[in-house]
Amino acid sequence: MAVSYDDYKYHKLASMTLSLDSITGNLPLFMGLDKKLIIDVKDIDKADFNQANFVLNGEALEVLKKLPKSIVQTVVTSPPYYGQRDYCADNQVGTEKDPEEYLNRLVDIFDEVKRVLKEDGTLWLNIGDKYIDGNLAGLPWRLAIALKQRGWILRSDIIWYKPNAMPSSVQNRPTTDHEYIFLFAKNSKYYYDADSIREPHITFSEKSKMKGGRNHLGKQGGTPEQGKNSGNSNLHQGRWDQAFHPKGRNKRTVWEVPLSKFREAHFAVFPEKLIEPCILAGCPEGSVVLDPFFGSGTTGFVSLTKGRKFIGIELNRDYCEIAIKRIFPS
Ligand SMILES: C[S@@+](CC[C@H](N)C(=O)[O-])C[C@H]1O[C@@H](n2cnc3c(N)ncnc32)[C@H](O)[C@@H]1O
Repeated sequence: MAVSYDDYKYHKLASMTLSLDSITGNLPLFMGLDKKLIIDVKDIDKADFNQANFVLNGEALEVLKKLPKSIVQTVVTSPPYYGQRDYCADNQVGTEKDPEEYLNRLVDIFDEVKRVLKEDGTLWLNIGDKYIDGNLAGLPWRLAIALKQRGWILRSDIIWYKPNAMPSSVQNRPTTDHEYIFLFAKNSKYYYDADSIREPHITFSEKSKMKGGRNHLGKQGGTPEQGKNSGNSNLHQGRWDQAFHPKGRNKRTVWEVPLSKFREAHFAVFPEKLIEPCILAGCPEGSVVLDPFFGSGTTGFVSLTKGRKFIGIELNRDYCEIAIKRIFPS
């Protein structure tokens, strides 16, 4: 197979630090030859973790225990929700006899996730809740607290607001249209590129306009974002930072992202836009993003398009194939 410009461009994007090793390691993939993109857990010793960009077919805890420590910069993942779906595989997460067993199993899995993370690594964990006998179980927060007790540092609870969430027929409570994404760090000092995910400033409202005064000469009613007050020493450093950062304001904790359109034989697919900020802020170009519940491979797809590498873990072989076809379409 000839190497197209797109292959070349893609290859460059996926690996910013090109050592000779990394070029030759990618050659089979590059030339359509037989680089293994799906690796069975029993062949894990053949996996090249520096090169990455493959999915490991096996059970999350079992596979994680076989990975070397400190190889991953960030983890972006969404485990199966409790009692929600059947992913057609033995030993799947989500089918435990009660929520306690489900939470304990996830905590054990995330202990291993912590081991494979670099010391300045992070975990972005999307998790949904469940009504059990009409009573909201509170599973996201129960998991978050259990993870804190195991040494994770909880840095943010992000609300994923879904503007196109499924309507429901409930009449005695509000319809749920959000989920959580928790940002955890392994240590108090961790990699986080705030500039890569800044938001546009929002023009200040009528109420918050500058009121004028001695140091606002001639600027009554100006909004900072129109630049009318730029350079004014009357603005405190903190306020300046919030209002005027040239790359935009710091990312907020409510993320409005519609549900994904990619539904090929897989449920609960991450919207690409939902995990883009996690990958951009959590991982520098050329480093590795892990998803231990890979599903249709959205984490791998977004990681590669953003110049990062990926490692996926997925129990169901059919989903591994769907993911790899999606990530490497040719
Ligand atoms: C919510 S889906 C993840 C979807 C994914 N975020 C995407 O964008 O497609 C959860 C996935 O975890 C897989 N899974 C369930 N139990 C597992 C286990 N014990 N080990 C590894 N994967 C598992 C399921 O087969 C399913 O594909």
